[in-house]
Amino acid sequence: MTGHHWFEPLAEHMGEAYLRYSFTKGTVQEVDHIVEALGLSTGDRVLDVGCGPGRHAHELARRGMVVHGIDISQPFIDLAVRDAPDGATFERLDARSLAFDAEFDAVICLCQGAFGLMTANGDDDVVVDGMSRALKPGGRLALSAFSAYFVVKHWEGAEFDADTGVNHERTEVRSESGESLDVDLWTGCYTPRELRMLADRHRLSVDRISSVEPGAYGNDEPSVDTAEFLVLATRVAERA
Ligand SMILES: C[S@@+](CC[C@H](N)C(=O)[O-])C[C@H]1O[C@@H](n2cnc3c(N)ncnc32)[C@H](O)[C@@H]1O
Repeated sequence: MTGHHWFEPLAEHMGEAYLRYSFTKGTVQEVDHIVEALGLSTGDRVLDVGCGPGRHAHELARRGMVVHGIDISQPFIDLAVRDAPDGATFERLDARSLAFDAEFDAVICLCQGAFGLMTANGDDDVVVDGMSRALKPGGRLALSAFSAYFVVKHWEGAEFDADTGVNHERTEVRSESGESLDVDLWTGCYTPRELRMLADRHRLSVDRISSVEPGAYGNDEPSVDTAEFLVLATRVAERA
């Protein structure tokens, strides 16, 4: 069953204008890094959770992967379907109700694609569990998460809730015709230690956590000065 989420009206308002945001411009570099870091090759099946208009899914499909993107926003799914290359399919689905069973070689969830946006409701465990179950044993996960350190240290005017680790932001988003809408954003923020514990609860063995920025994915050690962490993990079959 697909529920509703506070991000849906935002996505509906933005439509294609979402792709004008500078943080969406680094797709090719991000996919270069993900393909190499996860060791993806032609024919691998990849699930993109919170795929938005499908920018990573499209790029992966162009490189020969077979990609399925899911997102809670129907307008984003419509955009993803409209521009889809061969090998990329999409459906509207809530990341809280993933029911894939060991079907994918890799799962990606990038740029607060569902995961970080579910924290305010306490659903991050459910989302990670569904992603882990979707992986074949030995399958790989790439998950990006906002850094709690960065928000506290660098984000002036952040309304960071120290108890839950959720940052509240009041901002405006623009539609394709330039019409602005005031919105609230709740972003889950994490430390690498939390991310490791979260992964461990769901049969995911963390291979690496790096500090990254949109369009600049790499292998830098975690720091307190970079907005996102990129978690690379492997699905383990059984607990040791
Ligand atoms: C900031 S966008 C990132 C989209 C895409 N991964 C990218 O990098 O451009 C966050 C996406 O998560 C989706 N999302 C939020 N909650 C979700 C949920 N519960 N299930 C599926 N998708 C969700 C939103 O609709 C939105 O497309």
